[in-house]
Amino acid sequence: MSASIIDGKAIAERLRADIAAEVSRWRGQGGRQPGLAVVLIGNDPASEVYVGSKARQTVAVGMLSFEHRLPAETAQTDLLDLIAQLNADDAVDGILVQLPLPAHIDADLVLRAIDPGKDVDGFHPENAGRLMSGQPGLVPCTPLGCMLLARAAQPDLRGLHAVVLGRSNIVGKPIAQLLLQADCTVTMTHSRSRDLSGLCRQADILIAAVGRPEMVRGDWIKPGAIVIDVGINRLPADPSGKARLVGDVAFAEASPVAGAITPVPGGVGPMTIACLLRNTLQAARASASLS
Ligand code: GUN
Repeated sequence: MSASIIDGKAIAERLRADIAAEVSRWRGQGGRQPGLAVVLIGNDPASEVYVGSKARQTVAVGMLSFEHRLPAETAQTDLLDLIAQLNADDAVDGILVQLPLPAHIDADLVLRAIDPGKDVDGFHPENAGRLMSGQPGLVPCTPLGCMLLARAAQPDLRGLHAVVLGRSNIVGKPIAQLLLQADCTVTMTHSRSRDLSGLCRQADILIAAVGRPEMVRGDWIKPGAIVIDVGINRLPADPSGKARLVGDVAFAEASPVAGAITPVPGGVGPMTIACLLRNTLQAARASASLS
């Protein structure tokens, strides 16, 4: 039997529609229009595409979008000054500094400069600590999206064995915390783990976030497992000239074995921006309740 496909595009669309309805209801009750500021340094083509889609989707759900595009040679102090200005601006509920940053800028320092209440990426150490200790806070968008997709396949995740491939601060570590909060038994694996395929075969839920094209083969999958593929890897063009996007999971091999699986593209990718908008609404609500 073939796995059911977890349609991230459709789930993200529904989430954006729910957010738009919530923004409209909130404004109807006299709430201020939520605002998201995105800062892009330089002109990395992939980052420009992301920032463009973020701005369009922000406006489409009824929020204000503030874009700050600065040249690649922008001094770190100028970026820190801009962040201080956005921290102090009451019209800005969320601040996202697009990564990667140019090499002359210390990304950790920049992320720490963002007001944790406006840190809609959830990358500030205060939000990371809140997630770790189970306190409310802003949670990184891609892990949040992965959880929504896993729950779309199986609403009750309690007691399931989740195996996470990859230990990045952006995906692997935060998703492990979210899975623990959902009462999963969590195994973290990485490039130094022994018997990676054997560990994966134990997974009721497998989260692949390693950035290695099609590393997870069909015989790494436990029959019936939920497979969430975070990888977005661009393969060189084939002889016909077509570039191909693939995940960290060999989809054609894994889908006959898994119970449910996310495709690439159209799985985790669309959820990230939808969750960013969700975080912006959460930040706006929290700031209104404080004022
Ligand atoms: N670059 C690629 N994805 C992301 C993201 O989710 N947040 C930020 N800040 N930069 C990114």
